[in-house]
Amino acid sequence: MTTSSAPGKIILFGEHAVVYGHPALAVPVTQVHADVEVADSSRTGIWIDAPDVNLHAELNTLPSDHPIASVIHNLFFLSRVSPFPSLNIKITSKIPVASGLGSGAAVTVALARALSMHINYAMTDEQVNAFAYEIEKLHHGTPSGIDNTVITYAKPVYFVKGQAIETFQVAKPFTIVIGDTGISAPTKESVGDVRKLWEADKTKWEDVFDKVGAIAQEARNSIERGKMKELGELMNQNHALLQSMTASSPELDKLVSVARNAGALGAKLSGGGRGGNMIALVEPNQAEAVAKSLLEAGAKNTIITQVS
Ligand code: MEV
Repeated sequence: MTTSSAPGKIILFGEHAVVYGHPALAVPVTQVHADVEVADSSRTGIWIDAPDVNLHAELNTLPSDHPIASVIHNLFFLSRVSPFPSLNIKITSKIPVASGLGSGAAVTVALARALSMHINYAMTDEQVNAFAYEIEKLHHGTPSGIDNTVITYAKPVYFVKGQAIETFQVAKPFTIVIGDTGISAPTKESVGDVRKLWEADKTKWEDVFDKVGAIAQEARNSIERGKMKELGELMNQNHALLQSMTASSPELDKLVSVARNAGALGAKLSGGGRGGNMIALVEPNQAEAVAKSLLEAGAKNTIITQVS
């Protein structure tokens, strides 16, 4: 049997503007992950068992654009495997779907790695990342590539579309509380809507994206100097710009203000928005209290994670 696991992720700064070439910061979230097991099967065919999405099927019964089927077909095409071997593939994931935590990219990365290792087709991280980006493009329209990158490399990234991957130094580890609205919101839709705004008034929105990019750049600087108050204030500024792009929602705004009132240094939505998750920067000793306030205000789940 061959196994592989990939973490979830959060975008700390710069979502949406990153699609237009501006910098963004993202970190892996190891508390949630997608796990894949691949084993030879005595039954003919490729049998997929993904209980979290209630999928129990043979590959050929799935439409070829099904997210899981497309990973398998594309990987076999790339590795020139023929005929397809008979396999049992088990996929489990505790990353909530369409919540901004990178569930799709994590399944793609874990599945590509487990399958390629199982068939002895060696893939470097760079190849896995490029493969996962192609899959993201099939399902998400115009992704920047930040999700597949942070998940493939499982380390903090300073990301600019089309440029070499950079990591950033964390001078002083910091604590983030993640709050889930429980509302599933496909990234493709919010990214598509922001694109419509941009197409209608490019000058206006390019100015907004510039501001978001400058915030992400400053945030990297604050993280590299361990300036947490500055970082919290930058989160608040980034959230306001995301609101102007219609990426927020009443539920996200509520959790963001509850976190701030409960003592967070700053808070913002994270990922595509409209639902999914928000993040709050907290002093470590405030994390539990902020998480409790978020749950009382209606968050369906919280995760406390350290960035180091
Ligand atoms: C999604 O996690 C981040 C977005 O910026 C989309 C993308 O970068 O592809 C909203």
